[in-house]
Amino acid sequence: MTARRALVLGGTGMLSGVSDALLDDGWDVVLPSRRRPVAPITNGRAARWVKADWTEPATLASAAAEALDGPADLLVAWVHRGVRVSVLRAVAPLLADGAPVVEVHGSASAHPLGGCPDAVLPGHPTQQVVLGYVRHAGRTRWLTHHEVSAGVLDAVHRALDGKPPHVHQVGEFRPVHS
Ligand SMILES: NC(=O)c1ccc[n+]([C@@H]2O[C@H](COP(=O)([O-])OP(=O)(O)OC[C@H]3O[C@@H](n4cnc5c(N)ncnc54)[C@H](OP(=O)(O)O)[C@@H]3O)[C@@H](O)[C@H]2O)c1
Repeated sequence: MTARRALVLGGTGMLSGVSDALLDDGWDVVLPSRRRPVAPITNGRAARWVKADWTEPATLASAAAEALDGPADLLVAWVHRGVRVSVLRAVAPLLADGAPVVEVHGSASAHPLGGCPDAVLPGHPTQQVVLGYVRHAGRTRWLTHHEVSAGVLDAVHRALDGKPPHVHQVGEFRPVHS
């Protein structure tokens, strides 16, 4: 049986746990980024890394298409807000019909006042993940990579189960100081 294909944008940093988990589950995983991951992401199988930059979406899409070698069944995207629309639109033709999208937003681009950015690809049910903070002993800290990946994987499983689009908050919103 052919393995399912996942395209993970921004999947070599704090989302490397997501990339690893997909590999563990038997997915073929393609990781476009500027720098080859320092630690190989394998767990027995290797992701396909391709050198690509969000600032050149068409080039990124063609490199990812070659590495995917077929339609992607899942897109996970952690792309900075200034380029997310152009990058997501560029990779849209690489996705299988109706393939789900899981998009991750930092707390700078999604928050209680401004809301969550609209999904970009209408034909693809999109789960949105908003990263927040952890409050502990009167202080706040960013989420650990493990916490981020666990939250994003929850959204991935929801997407793969065909659940309706939803905004997932991981951690708390940044406290508002007056
Ligand atoms: N609470 C929050 O809202 C929040 C939000 C974001 C981050 N954080 C914290 O910040 C830390 C690091 O964040 P980070 O933003 O550096 O995320 P990261 O996930 O560590 O790295 C960014 C990912 O995007 C890729 N990338 C970045 N620029 C790119 C470009 N121009 N073209 C292609 N790929 C690109 C990177 O690979 P290359 O560099 O190889 O291209 C990498 O895979 C995390 O540990 C997290 O805890 C918190």
